[in-house]
Amino acid sequence: MSTEYAIEVRDVEMHFNMSKERIDSLKEYFIKLLQRRLMFEDFTALDKVTFQVEKGDVFGIVGLNGSGKSTLLKIISGILTPTKGSVTTRGAIAPLIELGAGFDLDLTARENIFLNGSVLGFSKKFMEEHFDEIVDFSEMQEFLDTPMKNYSSGMIARIAFAIATMTRPDILIVDEILAVGDFKFQEKCEVRINEMMKGDTTVLIVSHSLDQIERLTKHCLWLEKGKIRMIGETDAVCDAYKKGY
Ligand SMILES: Nc1ncnc2c1ncn2[C@@H]1O[C@H](COP(=O)(O)OP(=O)(O)O)[C@@H](O)[C@H]1O
Ligand SMILES: [Mg+2]
Repeated sequence: MSTEYAIEVRDVEMHFNMSKERIDSLKEYFIKLLQRRLMFEDFTALDKVTFQVEKGDVFGIVGLNGSGKSTLLKIISGILTPTKGSVTTRGAIAPLIELGAGFDLDLTARENIFLNGSVLGFSKKFMEEHFDEIVDFSEMQEFLDTPMKNYSSGMIARIAFAIATMTRPDILIVDEILAVGDFKFQEKCEVRINEMMKGDTTVLIVSHSLDQIERLTKHCLWLEKGKIRMIGETDAVCDAYKKGY
């Protein structure tokens, strides 16, 4: 039987144009633009990244700040288009990438659960049926009618994670989000991720906590300045990563 991949990343490159010099005003910007003196520098955030994630695997990505982890997750989720290369994903993706994306923080948590559900393509009826389950998991009963702008990042993460994992997506993508919750919630998320794994969900996870990566994932990838430094069994990659810095 041939291996079934949930995610295939082929020769992905991501370039950002960054202004070389500091421009302090819009006026200065337009003058420089007219004089064609605006200089841009090409910044390579990801360079020839190729790897596959098998269906049902829990796969980690480690690397220092700025190594390109979030950019890579956004490309896999379809939020960003790569400058070069391509990505193939199989199944429904639930991306938990930027905390609060998909929420209107002026609205209450109750309203946001329905809003976020419709953004993810679920009917009002479906959300009504799953509402209690989401609230139970998030443990935010007391704060349901509080505008989410008064929530801490940990509280937002609880709601976001509860919605994203309610439907058991085929692919769950998590960027640092578990790190903002308290340890009790982190444990709960880990239990759910393990359950999802048994149910064949593929999980792609970025975390500052190497412990968490080592507990949860089987395979992982080490990104360094946009390039794959190492890929393989989690224990081996994490050991090398720790020794490397
Ligand atoms: N929209 C953008 N415009 C310009 N540069 C960006 C943009 N997004 C990310 N970068 C740059 O790309 C690099 C990788 O960023 P990121 O993927 O967020 O890294 P990580 O998640 O590993 O900390 C950083 O140097 C960052 O400044
Ligand atoms: Mg990041």
